[in-house]
Amino acid sequence: MRSDIEILSDSVKLPCGAVIPNRICKAAMTEGLAGPTNIANERHVELYRRWGESGAGLHITGNVLVDRWHLERGGNIAIDGPQGNEALAGLADMASAAKAKGAHIWMQINHPGRQTQKMINKRPSAPSNVGLKMGNGRFGKPIPMTEDEIENTIAAHVNAAVVAEQTGFDGVQFHAAHGYLMSQFLSPLSNIRTDKWGGDLQGRALFLMEIVRRTRDAVKPGFAVTVKLNSSDFQKGGFSDDDSVIVADWLQDAGVDMIELSGGNYEQPRMIDFDRKDPKADKKKRESTRKREAYFLDFVPHLREHLKIPLMVTGGFRTASAMGRAVEEDNIDMVGLARPFCVDTDVGTRLLNGEISKINDMSENTRIGRGLLSPTSPISFLRDLNAWGELGWYYEQIYRLADGKDPDYDLTGFKALMAFDKTEAATAKAIAR
Ligand SMILES: Cc1cc2nc3c(=O)[nH]c(=O)nc-3n(C[C@H](O)[C@H](O)[C@H](O)COP(=O)(O)O)c2cc1C
Repeated sequence: MRSDIEILSDSVKLPCGAVIPNRICKAAMTEGLAGPTNIANERHVELYRRWGESGAGLHITGNVLVDRWHLERGGNIAIDGPQGNEALAGLADMASAAKAKGAHIWMQINHPGRQTQKMINKRPSAPSNVGLKMGNGRFGKPIPMTEDEIENTIAAHVNAAVVAEQTGFDGVQFHAAHGYLMSQFLSPLSNIRTDKWGGDLQGRALFLMEIVRRTRDAVKPGFAVTVKLNSSDFQKGGFSDDDSVIVADWLQDAGVDMIELSGGNYEQPRMIDFDRKDPKADKKKRESTRKREAYFLDFVPHLREHLKIPLMVTGGFRTASAMGRAVEEDNIDMVGLARPFCVDTDVGTRLLNGEISKINDMSENTRIGRGLLSPTSPISFLRDLNAWGELGWYYEQIYRLADGKDPDYDLTGFKALMAFDKTEAATAKAIAR
């Protein structure tokens, strides 16, 4: 029997011909490091230099936005239209820093749609005028996109992919998960259009499929075109696991090189194993999920019935044994890890040389408090604060890494939440548009 280390050290060949040196991927984490002009800078380069030395075979950038009026955070990189020399040089330096030790890097491309905060845009564009049912006033009521806007937004995604190729990235990942624009088109709850961009699943998937097909035609055959897809939105009447299996098949037929499986959205942030609606969900979690750690693995067997292309699963993996089993028994190809890379920049190497078999992601330190103030608080507003606080904690660690510092394990969840709110507001205010 092969050891977990041997299994995780295997290279992975993609349909486009690219070979990723091992099965560990640093999954996408929004960096928030861009200044008011939303271009890559020396802090991105330092962050990806460190992650490039982490032992992961693949790096996926935090989401890069295709429209500076629609940002997921004020500090996002935005690629909308032709790029100036400084922007191109920043991206090229970031890509080569990540690749210096032989890893690959893909740019994650996104548009947040209705998940754009008011401090960025009070009237975000979305498939339909269905607003988020959360956020305590943080999000504006969306304006339905016109057909022209839809076409322009598809073209903007293709343009960003072409820029990624020009600047040395090995591929792109379109972010069709977590409730952002592509995911909003897919869901019958957020897409109630009656034209060709809505209606049945085929109509709702058209936006994503056009982005993928047109990108495949625009880039070289060896460039990886991939998608992050929800296994489910975990909402009654939303994008379901059956829908996900069908869309994954269509993506395979359209020449996608890998699918990364995730789940949830801002209303149900299951991507970080958080249940806003049901604070007791963790206790009820299926025993199998508990043992397998990774909380989207249960969706893989159905998906694998037809899917032959490489599959990555992200969310919850923390032990080499769970990762090895997922490859051997569930037939996944890559293991996505996000939070661990914020607290240990050598985590890939340490897993692959056997120095550690279990990762401590320090998530206990991200709690804003206990009892009523805990993530399982009966008060939904406080549960929301915990989810933002947890993200804020990891954002602060990313800032430290980008500034050449080590992670601060003593940072409290409450302090991180305060810092996060202040930085986000200041960056949003400073954006040059
Ligand atoms: C700080 C932070 C930022 C994130 N940013 C992104 C992002 O830009 N794009 C994305 O697809 N997922 C993003 N995610 C989700 C992760 O890619 C991943 O799906 C999730 O954290 C579960 O993996 P983990 O348990 O290994 O952390 C982010 C997660 C965290 C913690």
